[in-house]
Amino acid sequence: MNENENGWRFVKKRTAADDGAVYVSSDGTRYLRTGGADLQAEATFQRRIADLDYPVPHILESGVTDAGRYFVVEESLGDQTLHDRAVASLDEGRDLADVVVDTAAQVAARLLRAQAAHRVQPTPGTLRQWLEGAGFTQNVFQENPDLDNPRTHAALDDALDHLETVPLVWGHLDYGLPNVLPAGVIDWQHHGLVPLGYDAVPALEIIAFKGGNKGYAAGPGQRRRYLDALDDASLNAFGQPASQNLGAYLLVKALFFLALMRPTDASRTDKHLKWQYRRHLFMKGLEQYERTGTVDTAHFPGLEEFAAGHSLGDHP
Ligand SMILES: Nc1ncnc2c1ncn2[C@@H]1O[C@H](COP(=O)(O)OP(=O)(O)O)[C@@H](O)[C@H]1O
Ligand SMILES: [Mg+2]
Repeated sequence: MNENENGWRFVKKRTAADDGAVYVSSDGTRYLRTGGADLQAEATFQRRIADLDYPVPHILESGVTDAGRYFVVEESLGDQTLHDRAVASLDEGRDLADVVVDTAAQVAARLLRAQAAHRVQPTPGTLRQWLEGAGFTQNVFQENPDLDNPRTHAALDDALDHLETVPLVWGHLDYGLPNVLPAGVIDWQHHGLVPLGYDAVPALEIIAFKGGNKGYAAGPGQRRRYLDALDDASLNAFGQPASQNLGAYLLVKALFFLALMRPTDASRTDKHLKWQYRRHLFMKGLEQYERTGTVDTAHFPGLEEFAAGHSLGDHP
């Protein structure tokens, strides 16, 4: 197969994949991805969870391209992700359209139910491996050695203790509106074992980590409605309200968003500011978690607000 023949149109280079790319068929009904061994593992995983009734695109074809790369063709789940819809439906305000919130809740509930129906037997250390992988802790502590301290580790240990009784399931690990469509969830390259709810629960909260640069925000009422819908689904599916672990999950997300942020080039003040911003959000999340057992992203400043305070010197 040659990705330039048969009318495949280039969509984008794939983030975080070695030389991979995404193409769409001329009639818009199929997506083609190219890549290496990672893509092959992703396709194997995606076939497996499709069989477990996860809401994912069916894989139609896979093999090796003329150029010796691996390729996968899957069905299209539609022409707009929920991120695209959120951007398209923005009016004067910055809040998401309610229909996007409710659609996000429906897809997330479907994912939760499929995950809850196929629990994985944990082995000792699985939860900690999830924490270290999902939070990129090795990188975060290497780039921010001052955060590699007893206080951080106490909070993370506490979070792991709280997650001890949560079922372990196969998860997405990059779950958010850009990878969600009304018909299901795409882009499973980061798949792995997760405590149930890690994907679905923080999906609207993580918008805040972008500092306002997404163009839209989820208001407190919208986030509550989303979490209530997930709690209904999770109480039914496994007897726990999934939102009770929001704090633990956001602590890990705060690490994830801090990973790979430290600029190597000290003259890049824009990158330096973003790194400091994510450090600030991690510290804010940590303080809240210690004090209340959860994290409320309503208290996160936007990047501009942070930058203004920063230049005035109130953020050392
Ligand atoms: N099966 C699909 N159905 C609908 N849209 C898709 C599908 N696969 C990919 N896309 C579109 O292509 C974009 C890039 O694919 P994705 O695998 O998410 O790449 P990346 O890893 O760079 O995020 C998505 O954001 C989405 O717009
Ligand atoms: Mg994606």
